[in-house]
Amino acid sequence: MRSHYCGEINASHQGSTIDICGWVHRRRDHGGVIFLDIRDHTGIVQVVYDPDTVSSFELADRVRNEYVLKLSGTVRPRPEGSVNPEMATGEIEVLGKTLEILNVSQTPPFQLDEYTEAGEDVRLKYRYIDLRRPEMQHRLRLRAKIVSAVRNYLESLGYLEVETPVLTRATPEGARDYLVPSRVHPGQFYALPQSPQIFKQLLMMGGIDKYYQIARCFRDEDLRADRQPEFTQVDIEAAFVTANDIMQLSEGMLRHVMKAVLDVELGAIPVLTYAEAIRDFGSDKPDLRNAMKLVDIADLMQTVDFKVFNGPANDPSGRVVALRAPGASRLSRKQIDSYTDFVAKFGARGLAWIKINKLDAGVAGLQSPILKFLPENVVFQVLQRCEAEAGDIIFFGADSAKTVNDSIGALRVQLGKDLSLISEGWAPCWVIDWPMFEMGRDKRLNAMHHPFTNAQGSIEELNSSPQTALADAYDLVLNGHELGGGSVRIHDSRMQQAVFEQLMIGQEGLSKFGFLLDALKLGCPPHAGIAFGVDRIVMLLAGTDAIRDVIAFPKTQSAACLLTASPSAVDVHQLRELHIRVNKP
Ligand code: AMO
Ligand code: AMP
Repeated sequence: MRSHYCGEINASHQGSTIDICGWVHRRRDHGGVIFLDIRDHTGIVQVVYDPDTVSSFELADRVRNEYVLKLSGTVRPRPEGSVNPEMATGEIEVLGKTLEILNVSQTPPFQLDEYTEAGEDVRLKYRYIDLRRPEMQHRLRLRAKIVSAVRNYLESLGYLEVETPVLTRATPEGARDYLVPSRVHPGQFYALPQSPQIFKQLLMMGGIDKYYQIARCFRDEDLRADRQPEFTQVDIEAAFVTANDIMQLSEGMLRHVMKAVLDVELGAIPVLTYAEAIRDFGSDKPDLRNAMKLVDIADLMQTVDFKVFNGPANDPSGRVVALRAPGASRLSRKQIDSYTDFVAKFGARGLAWIKINKLDAGVAGLQSPILKFLPENVVFQVLQRCEAEAGDIIFFGADSAKTVNDSIGALRVQLGKDLSLISEGWAPCWVIDWPMFEMGRDKRLNAMHHPFTNAQGSIEELNSSPQTALADAYDLVLNGHELGGGSVRIHDSRMQQAVFEQLMIGQEGLSKFGFLLDALKLGCPPHAGIAFGVDRIVMLLAGTDAIRDVIAFPKTQSAACLLTASPSAVDVHQLRELHIRVNKP
C-alpha cells in the first residue's frame, strides 16, 4: 500500500512522488490550506493539501484525529522559516495529491501527546491507542532487541532453547500459584509455573547440557512497580558447571546486551556477600550508585543512659546504626519529621537524628532531639565513625536487626533520591553466599532462594545448624533492582531430602516431588543455573521505573486487565463442566 514510511522521508526524497499510510496525528486549517501530520511507527510527516486538488482537499477537510489514511504526494522543501529542526522530517513536507480514508475514528479517549493527563487507567483500557505513541513503540522495539541479543549470545555458546509446560503442577518459588481446573479430572487442578525450575533441572538429567528459554512465569503475589502477575524470564541451566561458570556467563550476557542495545561498556561487577550487603546497605539488592552506608554503632551505645539505643545495642538480635546523609541539613524540619513516618512503614518506632551545623563548636554546633541523652564523647565518636561534615544530618536506627535493615535501608534509598545523591550510569553487583533459609512468621524455615538450591557445606552441617547454613546461590543486581537470581542445584537425593525436612515438607515433599527425588537417583549430573527478569532488564534499559511501561498488555496493581476486563465471571454451564461451584465471600 505504501512506498515509504512517514518518519523516513527527508531532503533526499525532494521531488519524488511517494505513497504513505498512517494515522492523522493532528489536523490544522491555515486559511485555505490544510496541514495533516501523518504518523506511523517510524514518525510523523507533514502533508499539505491546497484547494487546487479539489476532491482531496475536501476529504482532508473532513478528516479528524486518528483517522486512518492512505495518500500520495510530492516531497518538497518546507518554505523558509517553517523548517522544524526538532523533527526528523522537519526540513520537508509532502504536497498532497490523492487521499483515501481507509477508516474513520471516533474522538479518541485521549490525545496521543497528552497521554499523561489521561491517567494510566485510561491508557490501559485503550492500550492499542497508547501503543501508537512513539515512546511505547520505542520500548517494545527495545524489548525485542534485548531478547534478540540474549538469544544470539546464548545460542552462540551452544545453549539450546527448549519449551517447558505451562499446564503443570506447583513450582515452589515463594508466591501463590495460579490454578487451572481440570475438566477431565474432577476436583483436580493444574498450576501455572512460577518458573520452569523443575523442568530445567529435569532437562539437565535428560542430557540437554545447556538449556535456555524465554519463559512466561505466573505468580500470584502482591504487585509492585517492578512486579507483574505474569512476566518473562530468560531462564538458563547448564550441567557440569560451577557457580562461577554461571556468573561469568551471566556477566557476558549482560555485557553483550548493554553493548548491543545501548552501546554501553559495563564496568567490572563487584561481588558482595549477602552479609556485607545487609551490613552496609540494609538490603540484599543495593543500589551502588548511592554511596551512603549504614554504620554500626552498637558498641558505642551499650552503656549510654538512653533505653532506645542501649536496649538493641545489648540484644544479640538487635542492631544500632547511623546513616550519614550528606548535605541534608538543607532539608526543612517538616521534611525531616516526615522521614519518621516513612521509616514507621517499615516497623521503626522512631527516627533519631543529629544535624551538624558546625563540627568544631562542640555540642553547640549540633542540633538534635537526642543530644540530652548521649555523652558528648559518644556523640563525637559517632560523627567521626560516619566521617560527618558540617551540613550533614546523621539519622539513627535502633531496633531488631530486621527492622533496622528494612527501615534504614529504605531511608537510604529515599534520601538518595531526595538529596540527588544517586550518580548517573550503571551500577551492577553480585550478591552471593545467601543463607539457605529464613525464619517465617509461622516459625517455620523458608527457602531463601528455592528448595532445590545446594548448601555450601555437608548434609551434617546443614542439619546441625540450618539457620547459619549458606546456599550456593547468587543474585545479579542492577541499580537497586534484582535482575536475576540462581544457584547451584542439589544433585544428591539425600541433600534434597534433608532440605525438604528442614522446610518441614519431608513427607509432603516426597509426594509432591517424589519424581524429582527419583530422578536425582538415576544419574543426575551436577548442574546450576539462573533466571533473569526480562521485563526488569527492559525497564531499566528503557529508563522507566514501572515494568508496566515495557509490557504491551500489562495488568494493573490489582492484577486486572482493563482492556479485556479480565478476570471475569464465567458461564454457570462452563463451571459445571469443571465441577466447580463459586462460593463468594
Ligand atoms: P527468582 O524467583 O529469583 O528465581 O526469579 C528470577 C527473576 O525473575 C524476575 N521476577 C519477576 N519479574 C517481574 N514480576 C515478577 N512478579 C517477578 N518475579 C521474579 C526477577 C528475578 O530476579 N527458578 C529461579 C531461578 C533459578 O534458580 O534459576 C527463579 O525463578 O528479575
Ligand atoms: P523517645 O524517647 O521515644 O521520645 O525518643 C527520643 C528520640 O529517639 C526521638 O527522636 C525518636 O524519634 C527517636 N527514636 C525512638 N525510637 C527509635 C528507634 N527505634 N530508632 C531510632 N530512633 C528512635
